[in-house]
Amino acid sequence: MTNKKTLFSGIQPSGLLTIGNYMGAFRQWVNLQNQYNCIFSVVDLHAITAIQDPQQLKSNILDSVALLIACGLEPEQNIIFVQSTVYEHCVLAWILNCQTFMGELNRMTQFKDKSAKNKDNINLGLLAYPCLQAADILLYNTSFIPVGADQKQHIELCRDIANRFNKNYEEVFTMPQPIIPTVGAKIMSLQNPLAKMSKSDNNTNSYIGLLDNTDLIMKKFKRAVTDSEANIKFDEEHKPGISNLIKLLHLATDTPIEEIEDNFYGKGYGVLKEKTAESIIELLKPIQDKYHQIREDQTYLSKIIDTGKDKAQAIAHDTITRVYKTIGLSLTG
Ligand code: AMP
Ligand code: TRP
Repeated sequence: MTNKKTLFSGIQPSGLLTIGNYMGAFRQWVNLQNQYNCIFSVVDLHAITAIQDPQQLKSNILDSVALLIACGLEPEQNIIFVQSTVYEHCVLAWILNCQTFMGELNRMTQFKDKSAKNKDNINLGLLAYPCLQAADILLYNTSFIPVGADQKQHIELCRDIANRFNKNYEEVFTMPQPIIPTVGAKIMSLQNPLAKMSKSDNNTNSYIGLLDNTDLIMKKFKRAVTDSEANIKFDEEHKPGISNLIKLLHLATDTPIEEIEDNFYGKGYGVLKEKTAESIIELLKPIQDKYHQIREDQTYLSKIIDTGKDKAQAIAHDTITRVYKTIGLSLTG
């Protein structure tokens, strides 16, 4: 490790990842990887707050690791690891549970949303999810956490927990701060532009999966919900559907938003949909090609996961040893 500051982020291995994940998270990760000591985790222990099929989960974890690399993260330069391989996450999560108030957890928007959607499985893990997330972050002396806007609340809670621990005991934890992109932090659903694009949406037309093929991407964009005007203008409040398309075109091509508005002045929505679809197809093509190549190479993936585990565990173990000592526990007699 160099004296660069540490950046940490995580993604759940939920099977399908979308261009929302890419624009809100991965894109930043790739752009920031040279600037910081970066640690990226496939957070499978978070995924089991919902019941997962074991075979499917195993395959989703490998898919996610392969996809991170395909998106441009360098496994040599960064630590890429699977959360469950480093037991220290569970140990610190427990310790942080004891520093977190029920009221804080009950207030979390993600907990409320997920509980409302799965009324028959509101488990303790779902409630304590942000404590495990805080453990992920605090184990690695993290300074920066690049995430989409929906994670802001969890990061704020992580800071509160770290602060409380530092006050109750000693200054052990580094205070992390989020990096949230100015554009792209919230990509909206193609079917309901007032809601976040989400891979768990029942309507598959609402999201673009990173592995969707050309025809499917074109079809989904053509069906995107817009408005009844005929005016291509970026106005998220009054024209959320059109603004979402403009934003995606901007992010995929680096064309400034005003230039897109000028280029499409007087044109129909169909043209914008088609151009946006084409730009996303072009963006995803090399990622998809690389993904398929990596995903088939089981030996390569296993090596990445094992190396990531060793590198992550060395840091995590050191933190746990310090935390234990601070609170009066010890790993030895
Ligand atoms: P998740 O898919 O919920 O595990 O999220 C993984 C990362 O992608 C987090 O940093 C999220 O904030 C980000 N993310 C998820 N959905 C979107 C979206 N629709 N727009 C922007 N970022 C997103
Ligand atoms: N909760 C995050 C999400 O749903 C995933 C996550 C888990 C994470 N641990 C993290 C993100 C630590 C950043 C840092 O997107």
